[in-house]
Amino acid sequence: MKMAKMAAPVAERGQDAFKKLFKFYKRRVPPPHFSDVIDFAKGLRNEKVFAAKLNLAAISERDAQGAGLRPIKDWNAYGLEGYPGFVFISNPFLPGSQQYWVTQGLKVYPQKPNVCNLDIHMPPAETKNIWERSAERIRNKSGSKSEGKTLLEKLRWVTLGYHYNWDTKTYSAERHTAFPADLAKLSGHLAAACGFPGFRAEAGILNYYHTDSSLGIHVDESELDHSWPLLSFSFGQSAVFLLGGAKREDAATAMFMHSGDVMVMSGASRLLYHAVPRIVSPPAGFPSPLGPPEEDAPEDSLVSRVSEEDWEVCARYIEASRVNVTVRQVLAPGQLFSAAANSGPAVPPSGESYHQEETTRDENSKPKRRRSGCEHSADS
Ligand code: OGA
Ligand code: MN
Repeated sequence: MKMAKMAAPVAERGQDAFKKLFKFYKRRVPPPHFSDVIDFAKGLRNEKVFAAKLNLAAISERDAQGAGLRPIKDWNAYGLEGYPGFVFISNPFLPGSQQYWVTQGLKVYPQKPNVCNLDIHMPPAETKNIWERSAERIRNKSGSKSEGKTLLEKLRWVTLGYHYNWDTKTYSAERHTAFPADLAKLSGHLAAACGFPGFRAEAGILNYYHTDSSLGIHVDESELDHSWPLLSFSFGQSAVFLLGGAKREDAATAMFMHSGDVMVMSGASRLLYHAVPRIVSPPAGFPSPLGPPEEDAPEDSLVSRVSEEDWEVCARYIEASRVNVTVRQVLAPGQLFSAAANSGPAVPPSGESYHQEETTRDENSKPKRRRSGCEHSADS
């Protein structure tokens, strides 16, 4: 028998159900219990969880392996009662291959011409070599606070492809650079397996979370074509993810996202409100999915072995951080941005968004505080 606990406010309806749940999981003192959080790593044990059907023929085993993925037939894919179009794939990665994607997220994707929060307050010369300027110091960190944060530790978001404009909440033809080919391939594989062949990775947002970070309640609707799925990859520390309804006040369901997990929001779930109230350590005894590869990937693979030197830095970083990669198709096939409606001015983003620990967009969609993009103040 379980001890009587104050239930998480999951069943509540009406005005502030989502907001209440968000605050419940975000609370530091006393810490919440997590017994109502669905854990897809435990398979079908929750009555709301069912096995999702994938297209097993969508990609060959060789293509899967090339992207660091297990064959689709070996993936554990789940649906959630009441959320049609939502698919949760519990770590489909081959042992060892997450190292590659984590390293891309920390060393490669923050590089120019991609855009990051640090660009707002720093001259381009300083944000050019985030990795080089940070790696040695992270490797040698003693843990003492007085050392100050490296650029890598100040990184909060990176945008890829069509660079999201946080101010106008739009994408535009003017703010575009090449989307990383490896991540586009990985995304295409995941989308195809979920029934979306032809998905084009056109925009990406990477979110970097630390133990006190959260992501406020929001919906991703800036993409012009909502018939394509939104993909989300998690690496490093785990998170509590809240999936709500079509209205901001609708009740939400809490679930864990662990390293390697992939979430797909499509169909009726594409435009649902969601949030990340809390970063948590993986459960005790959770097998580390971040070890080295057991064997070298084939010659023609996208993924390659990460050097020990680089991995030392990444491993240090994700000891207390989570890297989330979201990938979106922005335009319908053949669609162009219409100059009048959708082209925001080609200005760098000022960084006002929900993507910061102290910026919870839970009041009238407005950030409570403007964030600097460079500072990282602990939550109170
Ligand atoms: C986003 C997002 C969720 C996450 O970037 O839009 O919702 O799991 N990320 O970090
Ligand atoms: Mn989102």
